[in-house]
Amino acid sequence: MSSLKEHIKIETLPKHIAMIMDGNGRWAKQHSRPRVFGHRNGVKAVREVTEACAELGVEYLTLYAFSTENWNRPMLEVNALMTLLVETLSKEVKTLQENNIKLKAIGDLSKLPPKTCEALLKAIEDTADNERMTLILALNYSARWEITEAVKSIVSNFRQESEKSLDEIDDLLIDRNLSTAGIPDPELLIRTSGERRISNYLLWQIAYTELYFTDTLWPDFRKEDLYKAIVNYQSRERRFGKTSEQLHT
Ligand code: FPP
Repeated sequence: MSSLKEHIKIETLPKHIAMIMDGNGRWAKQHSRPRVFGHRNGVKAVREVTEACAELGVEYLTLYAFSTENWNRPMLEVNALMTLLVETLSKEVKTLQENNIKLKAIGDLSKLPPKTCEALLKAIEDTADNERMTLILALNYSARWEITEAVKSIVSNFRQESEKSLDEIDDLLIDRNLSTAGIPDPELLIRTSGERRISNYLLWQIAYTELYFTDTLWPDFRKEDLYKAIVNYQSRERRFGKTSEQLHT
């Protein structure tokens, strides 16, 4: 069977892909199982997408694993998600090492349960020297939280250095104060499960990102679905505010 992978142009491969992994609960419902069953099956999709990105040469993959709003879910589900995270991290760190993948996390990690935080920090430390690809988990993350933190840090810095001018506040300074400092903005954002929302994800960073929505539920998402999204992305004209004519002269 032919694969869409053959249609991907390496020259215009996105350097950074961001994902909103949605639809685990609905997938579980379709299978008449509890929501947690959907999350457990979502891990397979995480593996597939990570592997596919590394194989293609994507440099950064950011996954929205838990938002600041997700604490409002039933306690049983929150606890199960946290446990799943510890389990997955301890199981998969070996695979990350073998594949030279660095793990990072963005979000307010201090509020995670101690066991989850420990497992995460250990996996980050163990993979710190890997260079092939960076896998970024957005955990207890929301873009408004991140932007608020950036504002706090800039203001605090300005208070300490009275001679600073407001003109020093620009895109670059804000970039440097976000949790994604040093990471290029994603060129492609994929959301599964048919929802067409951004849900407080990377709001600053997606100013010019191409958005791709698919009805596939996250636990069903496979490499071929990723290839399809990339081929679609590569068929678009990215104008960054210019006209089409300007781009082609
Ligand atoms: C959204 O589906 C999914 C989540 C909030 C959790 C995503 C977590 C995983 C895929 C598990 C493991 C992740 C890592 C990185 C190890 P939903 O529950 O909102 O689905 P619904 O909209 O159908 O209810």
